[in-house]
Amino acid sequence: MTIFNTPEEMQAWSQAKRAAGKRIGLVPTMGYLHAGHLSLIAEAHKRSDAVAVSIFVNPVQFGPNEDFAKYPRDEARDLALCREAGAAAVFLPPVSAMYASDASVYVTEERLGNGLCGARRPGHFRGVCTVEAKLFNIVLPHVAVFGQKDYQQAAVIRRMVRDLNFPLEVVVAPIVREPDGLAMSSRNVYLVGDERQRALGLSRALQLASEAVADGPCASESLRRRMGDVLENHALKIDYVEIVDAETLEPVAEALRGNVALIAVFCGKTRLIDNRVL
Ligand code: PAF
Repeated sequence: MTIFNTPEEMQAWSQAKRAAGKRIGLVPTMGYLHAGHLSLIAEAHKRSDAVAVSIFVNPVQFGPNEDFAKYPRDEARDLALCREAGAAAVFLPPVSAMYASDASVYVTEERLGNGLCGARRPGHFRGVCTVEAKLFNIVLPHVAVFGQKDYQQAAVIRRMVRDLNFPLEVVVAPIVREPDGLAMSSRNVYLVGDERQRALGLSRALQLASEAVADGPCASESLRRRMGDVLENHALKIDYVEIVDAETLEPVAEALRGNVALIAVFCGKTRLIDNRVL
């Protein structure tokens, strides 16, 4: 496994792989890897000859009052996990190698990223699109694998790839959950005391939504209220609870199978998100 710290070295590796006829798979991450990330690497292996993992806590996607400075980091452990998972390359740039101090070009998606997390985290998807556009140009992947945990992020990136003609395939891999249902997230490490138990409210509310529509269509408003009750019973502070169309991410009046339920809450100080295709 080779570790690259500069875009130029990473790009040279990718160009050599491409010249040798190899398919490159990219798994973009912000590090602090868990089983969810490892499932993305496994998915990338199925679809490529050489897997590159990027580890970069991207400052541009964090708001001024968000957790950029304290976002969990453990480089040595991440590298060991990437090696074990069979990554051929890891791209681990410092911020200065990714953003010139006078950087002035950003990528914005103007529809799918407006609601949900986009409405609560202004500039977040602009940061995500910008860093992904850069990573696609640096790593030159044939396929890039993202997790469904960030459903809206995956939709926004897919749209960027389509609309800007990036020559690569976006694959979205299923959410990996702890045995009790909590979706894996690097931010779960922030949960203290009874917060870990209270966080189960997210998967339970999504389970309720899934069971509700299995019996037939139901009014979105009352379903969202019932989901909200589950969250509040777990002492979670609701940021949003939505039922949306899986493609457009527009809220639906009547919840049906195939729609997506998405939740964002604060569990103590920690913001958690989860979703489920109903
Ligand atoms: O999902 C993440 O970890 C990040 O948003 C991503 C896609 C790596 C971009 O920084």
